[in-house]
Amino acid sequence: TVLVIDFGAQYAQLIARRVREAHVYSEIVPHTATVAEILAKKPKAVILSGGPSSVYAEGAPNVGAELFRAGVPTLGICYGFQAMARALGGVVDQTGGREYGRTSLEVTDTGSTLFRGSHADQPVWMSHGDAVVAAPAGFRVTGTTAKTPVAAFEDDQNRLYGVQHHPEVMHSQFGQLLLENFLYRGAGITPNWTTGNIVDEQVAAIREQVGTKRAICGLSGGVDSAVAAAIVQKAIGVQLTCVFVDHGLLRKGEAEQVEKDFVAATGVQLKVVDAEERFLSALAGVSDPEEKRKIIGREFIRVFEQAEREIVAESADAGEPVKFLVQGTLYPDVVESGGGTGTANIKSHHNVGGLPEDLQFELIEPLRKLFKDEVRQVGRELGLPEAIVGRQPFPGPGLGIRIVGEVTKDRLDLLREADAIAREELTAAGLDNEIWQCPVVLLADVRSVGVQGDGRTYGHPIVLRPVSSEDAMTADWSRLPYEVLAQISTRITNEVADVNRVVLDVTSKPPGTIEWE
Ligand code: XMP
Repeated sequence: TVLVIDFGAQYAQLIARRVREAHVYSEIVPHTATVAEILAKKPKAVILSGGPSSVYAEGAPNVGAELFRAGVPTLGICYGFQAMARALGGVVDQTGGREYGRTSLEVTDTGSTLFRGSHADQPVWMSHGDAVVAAPAGFRVTGTTAKTPVAAFEDDQNRLYGVQHHPEVMHSQFGQLLLENFLYRGAGITPNWTTGNIVDEQVAAIREQVGTKRAICGLSGGVDSAVAAAIVQKAIGVQLTCVFVDHGLLRKGEAEQVEKDFVAATGVQLKVVDAEERFLSALAGVSDPEEKRKIIGREFIRVFEQAEREIVAESADAGEPVKFLVQGTLYPDVVESGGGTGTANIKSHHNVGGLPEDLQFELIEPLRKLFKDEVRQVGRELGLPEAIVGRQPFPGPGLGIRIVGEVTKDRLDLLREADAIAREELTAAGLDNEIWQCPVVLLADVRSVGVQGDGRTYGHPIVLRPVSSEDAMTADWSRLPYEVLAQISTRITNEVADVNRVVLDVTSKPPGTIEWE
């Protein structure tokens, strides 16, 4: 394992992903971990991430020199680079020479361990105020920039390396090569990790954990629950039952994807609960978004519990309760809940579709070590349908929070049609990879005047909300080609009754959220 020490910037997860892309397994540890705790994990290498603060700032995370003397190959990045320099007797100065964004790095030794195979002059991504002005004894300087005399250094003898820039971001041209040089040459690690290793490891662990007991898994139609279920199915076969609660708030075709395609691909035992009427009557008359979420969450739990009782009653060993619950928890959730700095609760809803903590199940979480893109890859390796594996994020409460106003069957059907058209056209235009997700929203409480054929209409607007994002925490609106927007608009207004306007949301997040509710 390679350990990435997180100094609190958003870059640690990106570094860990890049290391895995180099086929080396990596995990993130908070900077509060002690040197003893870090060494106890027997890392093959350590990478210190960037951080927001100056090494001189009050409360700036400290790194003890013991870490660098322990004989573990170490790469310091940005703040980690400065912390390494300082701990080993180099000089870090508040030079005032800030560098943010694209900078030109002059590599003074392209034969050095980190820069082998790259260019003497390379564009890199910088984000720092302080600068290293003198390297510690035993280090040689391998790169400089206009404002940073020591922008990279290495001590090959002790296998210590550092760079001021961010090799993990895609704007740093030879960044991935630099990381690979560190891992393969500096640390001597053989790249042999793949997501397949995780599947094998999990299958064995799940068999061990579950024994002859039974497990249950709620499918949402999304990629995480599907891949988690597929792994558990591979491990314990008929001891797993999946439950799919069709709450009537899914998009066109999604229920079929679960009921037919997913079952065909995995052979999983599936219990489908058609709960559309139940959800719609619970939602009748409700327009407030938080209220909708609470109702949907509450009904979901009730239906799920009822399904579980039925599974128990119908099973051969009737009466024996289901012991395990499969959940699609991902690595970023694990990292963020275990020592993140605490983010403001902007909407109360992000667990809707999840289950309460007091349920009497033990959890099986086969994706706890994986990033989203790795989950998709595992899904493909397991032969899951592309429509599920490649699906963009979709909220648990579904179309229920994409109708501004009361949720009714007619409105859902209308929105389903409009959404299907938008998705079809975006896919046809080859834009799926550029878009993080594209909520399509019905403003059910708004009417505007239009003219269609010979008549005046008084219909509803549909909002398109295409966004680009790395993690849904921040987002920008996608600059889609006008022709594609025109095509979507023409089709929706022609094909969907009662819609006479299509509008584009051009707000970033913040200040807007991705969803409208
Ligand atoms: P916002 O609207 O907060 O959305 O910018 C951020 C991401 O979360 C998704 N989202 C939800 N997911 N239950 C979910 O499971 C919810 O209630 C929910 N609300 C928003 C949203 O689609 C986006 O990906």
